[in-house]
Amino acid sequence: MFRLLLLVACLGAIQAQKMHITLKTKDAPEQNPNLTPKEDAPSFHVQLLKNIKAKGVQTFVGEISLGTPPQLMSVSVETSSALSYFPSVRCEDQFCKSRRQYNSSASSTYEALGTPFELPPGINASGVLSKDSISFAGITVEGVVFGEAESMWNKWLSILPPDGVLGLGLQGMAPEGVRPILDVMAEQGVISERVFGMWLGRDPQGGELTLGGLNDQLYRGELTWANLTPPDGQWWTAPADSIVLDGLTQLDLCPGGRCVVLPASNSPYFIVSEAQAAAINEALGGLDIGQPGAAVLDCTTLYRLPNLTITVGGRAMVLGPLEYTFLLRFEGGLQMCVSGFLGFPGVDDHTMLLGTLFMQKYYIAFDRENNRLGFADSA
Ligand SMILES: *[C@@H]1O[C@H](CO)[C@@H](O)[C@H](O)[C@H]1NC(C)=O
Ligand SMILES: *[C@@H]1O[C@H](CO)[C@@H](O)[C@H](O)[C@H]1NC(C)=O
Ligand SMILES: *[C@@H]1O[C@H](CO)[C@@H](O)[C@H](O)[C@H]1NC(C)=O
Repeated sequence: MFRLLLLVACLGAIQAQKMHITLKTKDAPEQNPNLTPKEDAPSFHVQLLKNIKAKGVQTFVGEISLGTPPQLMSVSVETSSALSYFPSVRCEDQFCKSRRQYNSSASSTYEALGTPFELPPGINASGVLSKDSISFAGITVEGVVFGEAESMWNKWLSILPPDGVLGLGLQGMAPEGVRPILDVMAEQGVISERVFGMWLGRDPQGGELTLGGLNDQLYRGELTWANLTPPDGQWWTAPADSIVLDGLTQLDLCPGGRCVVLPASNSPYFIVSEAQAAAINEALGGLDIGQPGAAVLDCTTLYRLPNLTITVGGRAMVLGPLEYTFLLRFEGGLQMCVSGFLGFPGVDDHTMLLGTLFMQKYYIAFDRENNRLGFADSA
């Protein structure tokens, strides 16, 4: 049990520790229907994601390739960081040894950069930046700067299926030299619009990452747009009008209406500050299980728990208790309910990361042309 919680905590850590967001402005959302792909020509490229269960938690994994000739890698898609990284053939750690490892000597398109990189403390991954082509969604992007991990020792992450991470985040805290891959793709003309959409299915469905446009088959109704804030295009963060747990008593998770949401497709959780997680999990009747920031819930009370309502761009998105919790089944018929709210050091009280629990209900459009996020009901 602790093992699993630590594992997912680590997943959260990858994003959370990279975040240092200062709130500046709150922008009014705007509507723009022009992004919808035209019917005659599909203006997007598709990367399918498989649903793989790791210790009961659904992860979405895609197959991509690196270099020439192609070296296959499985990845999870990360929307909160621009850095893609893969185990290097030089990495001797058990973590790397149990995965496919990128061999730069075997790639004719490899260029050495050698700048060191290190993931946030606790993740135990470091190495050098390298440059090579990355192929995914039927597109080849040349000269992408990514992390070649030479040390990757994380006992919890090691039970996760993917080899590496494909970063679709914005500049954020990415090491110097790493650029948002959407920009690189547009420069090379492999996409005409710097836009992608993400659809994640419910178990046992997989997911779809759509690049260069949006797949309107994967959402219902209209998208609601919210401009990024701060508007400098460093993070996929959008202002929320309000976030509340509205049961018998209301818990205001967006005090003063000053808060942001950040889609984080590489984590299953809603990641918030430790103080907020404590308040939320207490309101849900959560049991402290000695793992800071996390809580186990009494499965028999789930139906009585409040709804979570996240309002962005005037659109209220409601998640019921079964949609913000994990029901884990163990051998022997044992069940455990785990709160989907995870507290993390380094996340401020005004930020909520929206992991895959959220994204399994709402389709998200990431629009770098207009620096905004779009939300719609998932198909
Ligand atoms: C990496 O590729 C080079 C060139 O093809 C090859 O000689 C070497 O054995 C490979 N290394 C590993 C560990 O596979
Ligand atoms: C990170 O590395 C340190 C030192 O090798 C080790 O003690 C720690 O357990 C590692 N962290 C994880 C999550 O595996
Ligand atoms: C939660 O939302 C559902 C559907 O929107 C609604 O039927 C239900 O009454 C809400 N529950 C609470 C406790 O507000």
